Amino acid sequence: MLQVFEAMESEVRGYSRMFPAVFDRAEGSELFDVDGRRYLDFFAGAGALNYGHNDPAMRAALVAYIQHNGVVHSLDMATAAKGEFLQRFHDVVLEPRGLEYKVQFPGPTGTNSVEAALKLARKITGRHTIVSFTNAFHGMTLGALSITGNSFKRHGAGVPLTHSVVMPYCNYFEDELDSLAYLDTMVADDGSGVDKPAAIILETVQAEGGINVASEQWLRGLAALARGHEILIIVDDIQAGCGRTGPFFSFERAGIEPDLVCLSKSLSGYGLPLSVLLIKPELDVWEPGEHNGTFRGHNLAFVSATAALSYWKDDTLPRETARKGELVRSVLDAVVEDHPQLQGEVRGLGLINGIACPTPGIAAQVVREAFSRQLIIETAGPDDNVVKVMPPLVIDAEQLSEGLQIVRDSVRAVVDTMPHNTFAAMEATI
Ligand SMILES: Cc1ncc(COP(=O)(O)O)c(C=O)c1O
Repeated sequence: MLQVFEAMESEVRGYSRMFPAVFDRAEGSELFDVDGRRYLDFFAGAGALNYGHNDPAMRAALVAYIQHNGVVHSLDMATAAKGEFLQRFHDVVLEPRGLEYKVQFPGPTGTNSVEAALKLARKITGRHTIVSFTNAFHGMTLGALSITGNSFKRHGAGVPLTHSVVMPYCNYFEDELDSLAYLDTMVADDGSGVDKPAAIILETVQAEGGINVASEQWLRGLAALARGHEILIIVDDIQAGCGRTGPFFSFERAGIEPDLVCLSKSLSGYGLPLSVLLIKPELDVWEPGEHNGTFRGHNLAFVSATAALSYWKDDTLPRETARKGELVRSVLDAVVEDHPQLQGEVRGLGLINGIACPTPGIAAQVVREAFSRQLIIETAGPDDNVVKVMPPLVIDAEQLSEGLQIVRDSVRAVVDTMPHNTFAAMEATI
């Protein structure tokens, strides 16, 4: 079944190796392969499927739009579908939060939004340096790679990655260094060797980087520091946004208002490619057509994105996400407690959670074990050392507990089959 992929698809393919099945259908939190085998989804399209697979209301809106011969492709022309999305986004997301942003549609992927943000920040300030953080992940294009931490991904660029400076993220040095005081000195001191930055870009919860949650205090301190030095703040909410941490925007918990916000992944709601850059109105200094692209805002994605915003008409979804997140963390805490040899550390917020496992290879083994039990789950972190638990936000109680039981069983299976000397050797080194 996988032969055609092995024969035809580039060696760069990743997830088809991690999850060796040929998937055919999907519904809610379940995927089915071509043989009809059912898998539970604790991966959620790496954050693109917060509302699960094939949400019926979104599907109905898409089918109706297609049957009406709605315009599908239109570059950045004005269309009814785009207008409805913009109006709904204003009414349901921005206005109730007292936020004012202009909406730019760059290309359809997250990394397109990041590139647009970097370009615009440089244009606004006339400066070129961007501050990013340890373990950050912002995408695969050259600008995004220049602010991404992972050395394997950076190496893939094949050219020097420039015009960026990396600083320690919240708790990177645990409690040994005040990362904000360090950043403050480095940007303020004329002898530091750091050119005054155009912008600081961050994820408020680093997802691919290992599920590192920045504290609210750190986020507020960072925003104040940036304001004090007239440096722009860009929040990359591509994975942590659209409700993944609870509120629509992940930065709401800290009460900060970024100058620019990157959103993508679950924005279309249905897994269709859609990306936006939100821009404080006074910073929207683009000339018409200065940044463009063929797939800037796709009408099918606008249709499903408009339908998806129905989830945000009240606070049911964020409340449920907070409640389910607490349940997930309590189960993961119990897993860690039951297996002290794992030396696991539970991390997370809302419904992005995980167990960091210091022994190399353990997290990947847990993921393989889980797949053999028909649970789709992946790793995160610079060494793939974190088991990442990320179900759709809309998962029902039964499926959530079924998946968590599989996580438990998978960890137990891995711990039981690990030679004892692996842990002894590890303990000897710490
Ligand atoms: C925080 C963050 N930024 C940017 C990206 C890049 O998005 P895309 O893969 O759609 O280019 C990702 C993808 O995982 C991400 O998690």
